[in-house]
Amino acid sequence: AAQLPEGYKIRPLQRSDYANGFLDVLRVLTTVGDVTEEQWNERYTWISSRSDSYYLLCITDASSAIVGTGALIVERKFIHNLGIVGHIEDIAVAKDQQGKKLGLRIIQALDFVAEKVGCYKAILDCSEANEGFYVKCGFKRAGLEMAHYY
Ligand code: ACO
Repeated sequence: AAQLPEGYKIRPLQRSDYANGFLDVLRVLTTVGDVTEEQWNERYTWISSRSDSYYLLCITDASSAIVGTGALIVERKFIHNLGIVGHIEDIAVAKDQQGKKLGLRIIQALDFVAEKVGCYKAILDCSEANEGFYVKCGFKRAGLEMAHYY
C-alpha cells in the first residue's frame, strides 16, 4: 500500500473541519457554494447519525490542514442476496498536493472500508480524464452513467 508523506494523516471528517479547509479542497472538484457554519453543522449532524452508511475521510498535511478527501456511501439492497454496494463519491486532492499518491491513498482507504463492511463491489462515476487514475486504483470501466437534473 502507498504510504503517506511525512506528517500526513488520514482520518474521518470531524465537525471542526468546517474551519480546516475541507470545503476548499472540494472546490477543486466542483461548485460548493457558500455553506454557512450553521448549514454545515446541520448536514454534519445528519451524516454522523448515519455513520454505518456514510464514511467521509480526509488527508491532513503536517500542519493538520485538509489536503484531500473522499467518501464512501454504503447501500443495502434486496437483490444479490441482500447485497451491499459501496458508492465512492467526491474524491478531491488540493491542486498543489496532486501527484503525491494522496488520491490513491484515499481510494485504498475507502476500498478497505467497503470490503470490511461487506460490500461485494464499489462503484463510482468519473470523467474520461480521470479514467487512468481509477484504473491505477484497480477499477475498470463498467456501464454508463445517466442523469436527470431537477
Ligand atoms: N489520468 C491518468 N492517470 C492519473 C491521473 C489522471 N487524470 N491522475 C493521477 N494519475 C495517476 C498518477 O500519475 C499515479 O500514477 P503512478 O502510480 O504511475 O505514479 C496514480 O494515478 C495515482 O495518482 P495520485 O498521485 O494518487 O493522484 P492525485 O493525488 O493527484 O489524485 C485526483 C487524483 C483525485 C483525480 C486529483 O487529481 C483531483 O483531485 N482532481 C480534481 C478533482 C477530481 O477530478 N476528482 C475525481 C472526481 S471523480 C469522483 O469523485 C468519483
